[in-house]
Amino acid sequence: MHMRAVVYRETGPSSVLSVVERELPEPGPGEVRIRLVRSGVNPTDWKFRTTTMNGQDEVTPGQDGAGVVDAVGPGVEGFGIGDRVWTMLAQHGRAYGTAAEQTVQPVDNVVHLPSGASYDLGASLGVPAVTAHRALTCAWGGPRRLGPGALAGRTVLVAGGAGAVGNAAIQLARWSDATVIATVSSPEKAALAMAAGADHTVDYTEGDTARRVLALAPDGVDQVVEVAPAVNIDLDLEVLKVHGTLAIYANNGGEDMTVPLRSAFSKNLRFQFLILYTLDRGLLAAAAEDVYAAAEVGALRVGEDAGLAVHHFALEDAAAAHDAVEGGLVGKALLDIAAD
Ligand SMILES: NC(=O)c1ccc[n+]([C@@H]2O[C@H](COP(=O)([O-])OP(=O)(O)OC[C@H]3O[C@@H](n4cnc5c(N)ncnc54)[C@H](OP(=O)(O)O)[C@@H]3O)[C@@H](O)[C@H]2O)c1
Repeated sequence: MHMRAVVYRETGPSSVLSVVERELPEPGPGEVRIRLVRSGVNPTDWKFRTTTMNGQDEVTPGQDGAGVVDAVGPGVEGFGIGDRVWTMLAQHGRAYGTAAEQTVQPVDNVVHLPSGASYDLGASLGVPAVTAHRALTCAWGGPRRLGPGALAGRTVLVAGGAGAVGNAAIQLARWSDATVIATVSSPEKAALAMAAGADHTVDYTEGDTARRVLALAPDGVDQVVEVAPAVNIDLDLEVLKVHGTLAIYANNGGEDMTVPLRSAFSKNLRFQFLILYTLDRGLLAAAAEDVYAAAEVGALRVGEDAGLAVHHFALEDAAAAHDAVEGGLVGKALLDIAAD
């Protein structure tokens, strides 16, 4: 038995990707095999492809995916053949991720997909929503879990509200009853952030962003979900309240951040850096539970009306999908692997 898979055998531009036939993998103890319907493409996929083989001879990219369990290894509890699932960290420390017809995964990387949730949504959750969950649950005095009421009374500033992580952060924060302000760089992106549920948007390309954020939140914001800290640190320090939290998940806009120390310690601010790859497994599992719950009630969605247009690519066009994401595609890139 064989399957088709996207692979690369050396790092480099998207031309290193090709579609090959590989033997169908069998799940070992504690693992399930998933017949994938969609594979989600994230910036991390092209970044890994260009920089490291991580000790593997051949890599199938893709942390995120959604599909149906079609084989179960020994000792697996909680998953059975036919279960609809989504993945997180599917290619972390492993050669074979989700850009393939099938993937074998340890059950820790596999989460059920609520019955009403589409495969498009399932393949869009792993990296963006779990990251957003961590960013929203690391705040001083804030909740460790999300859900209705969890962020009531708190104001969250989401930098880059039209991005994939920004979109998930807006939706999860609104589900949890926060007031959400999102920064954007154009009226089109403002409309996307509003569609995601933001209460307010501020175009950061137009003048004094801090003043306009503070006009909306005169006491300041409790939390910032930050994608571009190197260029936004002054803004963040100005708008955060005393005991506010700055959650930093990316290095868009620059590798190095210069922190005016007095401004930061004067407000007792908390800086929380985050990345999924080394995040505590218990926190990942809690995030997966909350993301499941949000998806189940329709509080996490994808599509134009949720502020995140979905762009579909064939498995054979994985290179084009990687290039689109690297080029700043607005929305979510998915590989269509099988019919829904
Ligand atoms: N730490 C982790 O575990 C983790 C997880 C997921 C993603 N990431 C990283 O996070 C980044 C975003 O991922 P993504 O999937 O959300 O990408 P995306 O969909 O391309 O979104 C990137 C967003 O960043 C915004 N942005 C860039 N500069 C900005 C600035 N100065 N102020 C405000 N917003 C700004 C862009 O908005 P404008 O075009 O309006 O500027 C865009 O909406 C990537 O670098 C990715 O590798 C890290």
